[in-house]
Amino acid sequence: MFQNQEIAKDIFYVGVNDRQKHKFENMLPLPLGVSYNAYMIIDEKTALIDTVDIAMGDLFIDKIQSQLKGRKLDYLIINHMEPDHSGSIKLIRKYYPEMIIVGNSKTLSMVEGFYGVDNNMLEIKDEEVLSLGKHKLQFHLTPMVHWPETMMTFDQGEKVLFSGDAFGCFGTLDGAVVDSDMNIDRYWDEMTRYYANIVGKYGAAVQKALKKLTPLDFEMICSTHGPIWKEYVSEVVDKYDQYSRYDSEEGVVIVYGSMYGFTELMAETVAQGLAQNGIKTIIIHNVSKSDPSVILQDIFKYRGLIVGSPTYSNELYPEVESLLRKIEIRGVKHRIFGCFGSFTWASAAVKRLNSFVETMKWTKAEISVDEKQGLKEDNYKACLELGRQVAELVKIPIEIPQHCV
Ligand code: FEO
Repeated sequence: MFQNQEIAKDIFYVGVNDRQKHKFENMLPLPLGVSYNAYMIIDEKTALIDTVDIAMGDLFIDKIQSQLKGRKLDYLIINHMEPDHSGSIKLIRKYYPEMIIVGNSKTLSMVEGFYGVDNNMLEIKDEEVLSLGKHKLQFHLTPMVHWPETMMTFDQGEKVLFSGDAFGCFGTLDGAVVDSDMNIDRYWDEMTRYYANIVGKYGAAVQKALKKLTPLDFEMICSTHGPIWKEYVSEVVDKYDQYSRYDSEEGVVIVYGSMYGFTELMAETVAQGLAQNGIKTIIIHNVSKSDPSVILQDIFKYRGLIVGSPTYSNELYPEVESLLRKIEIRGVKHRIFGCFGSFTWASAAVKRLNSFVETMKWTKAEISVDEKQGLKEDNYKACLELGRQVAELVKIPIEIPQHCV
């Protein structure tokens, strides 16, 4: 029944949309949903590349059967084992028991570990080629883009790269599946949010993969999430290059926690100081209101980060502490930092913020502002000065070498 879209010669899109799930990995909100992309190549042999979340398994099977039109499925190629892509392996095996599962040694051990499937497997090595007939598929191991087993599959004749999570983004595919057939505006921020939260920790691995993939001269990227990139291949690769080198644009993110508005007023004042000194892109996040995935998205994008927190039980405000941990985990590099805080009877927040920036090895504004109780004239001016100092530092682009990580 299903007419799967042919995206290149004999290559069909058989992925699905998920508009039901509230949070990806049970953490990251999905206001635009998410797609789980899978592809099928019909040649002398047939091959399915990746599967989908088991929640969509029935629909997925219907799409596969529509495409095979009674033929058998010869190969299932697994680029990535996270269950949003591997979840339907066991189900497909039930329909196609003779199908050979193709993966590297780490993949195949995970197939057994997660799903108890241990027969009809083909272990491939880096750069090995599998022929389906006209289509020759070459495998490229790209560990830690996102998991240790991740690899990419390159169709040498069609110059199509099946990239797994890499170059993916949140957002369902509403009608069309190829970028040139749709308005892609809504996907750019979702790509940054996806990168920052899913792949963000693995900048060095992404750089290594980019270096390895560049000579392939691919003309189409088929990721496991979001649009198929054909018209915007170079833009998408550039974005991954930028984010994985922790390169940034001119702009400042201010994140604050505030219970009764005193620290918030300091944030507003610091923002004024930035604006007075020529910074046009200033994004203020109330840490208790903005989703952390969106805050991280902006931190990955912009060069400056200023954090404000009240002292809470002789510690940082817990929501701010939680955000700092998320930044630390991702090992974000090359940022300009400023901080401020407030306290009622004993100060601890600003001290902790200053130790955070030392851990991160970022450049820090000389001044930090620490106010006892309500904001007063001298610290009002100090907040403006903090904005000024960060503005001056942010205006100087940071020299980040190619493939620096
Ligand atoms: Fe889309 Fe790492 O899974």
